[in-house]
Amino acid sequence: LNKQSIVEKITGARRSPAHEHGEAFAPSNIALVKYWGKRNDELNLPVTSSLSISLGNLGTRTAVELIDGSDVILLNGLPVPSDTSFSKRLREYLDLFRPAPGTGYRVTTHNTIPTAAGLASSASGFAALALALDHLHGWQLKPRDLSILARLGSGSASRSVFKGFVEWHAGSADDGMDSFAEPLCAVFPDLMIGLIKISVAEKPVSSRVGMKRTIETSTLYQTWPAQVARDLKSIRRAIETSDFELLGRTAENNALTMHATAIASWPPTLFWLPESVKIMQAIWSWRASGMPVYFTMDAGPNIKLIALRDQVAALSSHLHSIEWIAPFT
Ligand code: DP6
Repeated sequence: LNKQSIVEKITGARRSPAHEHGEAFAPSNIALVKYWGKRNDELNLPVTSSLSISLGNLGTRTAVELIDGSDVILLNGLPVPSDTSFSKRLREYLDLFRPAPGTGYRVTTHNTIPTAAGLASSASGFAALALALDHLHGWQLKPRDLSILARLGSGSASRSVFKGFVEWHAGSADDGMDSFAEPLCAVFPDLMIGLIKISVAEKPVSSRVGMKRTIETSTLYQTWPAQVARDLKSIRRAIETSDFELLGRTAENNALTMHATAIASWPPTLFWLPESVKIMQAIWSWRASGMPVYFTMDAGPNIKLIALRDQVAALSSHLHSIEWIAPFT
C-alpha cells in the first residue's frame, strides 16, 4: 500500500480537469491533544487520535492550474526555487495527481498567517492544496476523503480541512481509509488563542523526525497512547460543558507530556529555547495569582496561549506582541 494506491482508490479514474482553475482556503490548526507518532510512515497513519482547534481565517489560500512542463510554485508572490525541501515535498505530492506525465501544476499559494507568527503552515498548506485539486479536477469528494488526501501530505493537514474543533480518528485499517478528521459540532465563542513567537528559524528537528525518534527510542512513549485516550475524553467533556479550566489544563499537560517523550528519546530531542521556558514560568506564575491562562506547544520553541476573551487585555499588558486569534468569530 502506498500513497498512489490510496489516491487512486479515492479519486478513481477521474483524471481530466473539470475546471481551468481550482482554488481553496484552509485554516491553520493547533492540537489540544497532540498527534505524536505514526503506525505507518508512508501513509501518515497515527498511533492515536488527536483533537485540534482551527484558527478561523488564518491559514492558506491556494490556487492550482495545469500547465505544460514542470511545476511552478509561488509562495506569497515569490517563486519557490525547485531545489528547496518545501518545493520537493510539494512536487512529490503533486506527482500523486498528475493526469499525464509531462503535465505540471502552477500552484499559487498565500499564507494569511504571518510567517513571522511562527506557526507551521504545512497543515493548512496541504489541506488547501487537496481542496484546490478537488476543485480543479471536479472530483467532488466527500469531506472525509478530502481529509485523507490532505493527510497524505502531512498528518496534521487532515484536521485543517475543517473549522472549529476537529477530531482526527486514528482508525485501524491498514489502508488508512478509516483515518480521517471530522468536525465536532460545538463552539466555544470566548476561547482565544495567543501566539507568542520565540523563533521563526527553521527547526533543527522536524516533527516527522522527532516523532520517529521518539517511537523508536523513548521508553516514555509506552504510556503516551493511554494518556491520549484519557485526554481526549477530558477535552471532549470540557468542550461539551464549556469548562475552560479542564480544557486548558488537559491541553497543557498533553503538550508537556508529548515534549517529555521527545526529551527522553535518543539523541535527545528538545524543541524549547531558554525563552520558551521563561514564558512557561511566567504563565505558571500568572496562573498562581489567579489568572486563568494555559499554553500548548508543538515541535518548535513557540508558545500558544489558551485564554478567555476577557483576559486578553490583561495578558497583553504583561507580554507585548501576543498575536490573538478568536477561532469562533
Ligand atoms: C507536534 O503533521 O507536521 O504539531 O505527518 O510528518 O507531516 P507529518 O507531521 P505533522 O506533525 C504535527 C505534530 C504536532 C502535533 C499536532 O499537530 O497534532
